[in-house]
Amino acid sequence: MASAAHAQKLPNVTILATGGTIAGTGASSTTTVGYTAATVGVQQLIQAVPEMAKVANVTGEQVFQIASESMTNEHWLALGKRVNALLAQPNVDGIVITHGTDTMEETAYFLNLVVKSRKPVVLVGAMRPSTALSADGPINLYNAVLLAGSADAAGKGVMIAMGDQIHGARDVTKTNTSTPDSFKTPELGMLGYIQGGKPFFYRSSARKHTAESEFDISALSSLPQVDIVYGYANMNTVALDAFVAAGAKGIIHAGVGDGSLAAKVKPGLVAARQKGAIIVRSSRVGNGILARNGEANDDELDFVVSDTLNPQKARILLMLALTKTSSTKDIQRIFYTY
Ligand code: SIN
Repeated sequence: MASAAHAQKLPNVTILATGGTIAGTGASSTTTVGYTAATVGVQQLIQAVPEMAKVANVTGEQVFQIASESMTNEHWLALGKRVNALLAQPNVDGIVITHGTDTMEETAYFLNLVVKSRKPVVLVGAMRPSTALSADGPINLYNAVLLAGSADAAGKGVMIAMGDQIHGARDVTKTNTSTPDSFKTPELGMLGYIQGGKPFFYRSSARKHTAESEFDISALSSLPQVDIVYGYANMNTVALDAFVAAGAKGIIHAGVGDGSLAAKVKPGLVAARQKGAIIVRSSRVGNGILARNGEANDDELDFVVSDTLNPQKARILLMLALTKTSSTKDIQRIFYTY
């Protein structure tokens, strides 16, 4: 009787499992690279961390079982709709999404823009497979469930919980191929920590997200094609031209430095814009504001700048922006808002 009353008071957290290393298995306990991602099911993940039952009423759902490099726009639309449907239920207090780390920042940012709720949504993964010595998945999952069940986490936007740290979806990025401390929010800073069974917040994202967002995916079954062209010395327009020929509605130019346009590439971008594609100047550098009318005359070229978004997140925002408008003025407003 006492434990039933206790269970009633605990928050209800749903774990949506999508695969990744957190659900991965290696050949031996010392295998920390070269393992197989996405093999362990959600019930096994839950059973591996019985401590979660003390902090939340946890239920699980296997939405996909993939390595996150294979995540697609269609997966994102399905996931976003499922999250919105669950969060609309009064008996769901928060959601945890287990996910591969490679594209976790992208899924988190997509959800940050399309989830219609203030309830916590937390993405979590692991850098080491479940079979490894000092696997980081179980403690990360426990922390994520704690965070998703915490009233303090409401209205903070979609978060990533990795290594006792809480990161905001917009600004977090994966910074190392294999070490457990790979997730960082460089320069702008993480939101807080999870310690002693409690989240501690020190910052919040200043940009619009979740319940305040203008994007609605409820009627969408696909997203406009947007591709990224990467800047480098001796860059050419082969990839750019191929993307435009394949029907790209938008191009993210991941330029060098402050998004500079190489002399050989600029005419290709101008031609792409004349054909109707939206061009967003972004940077491969990873930090800093992309200055509008800085390295290029964006007003004259009718280009958009990505503000501080990295190219992979700029791609997501441009896809969603294109579901609403093709006006570069409005798209630039969107880039300065989210
Ligand atoms: C993946 O992203 O699915 C594999 C790598 C990882 O989860 O760390």
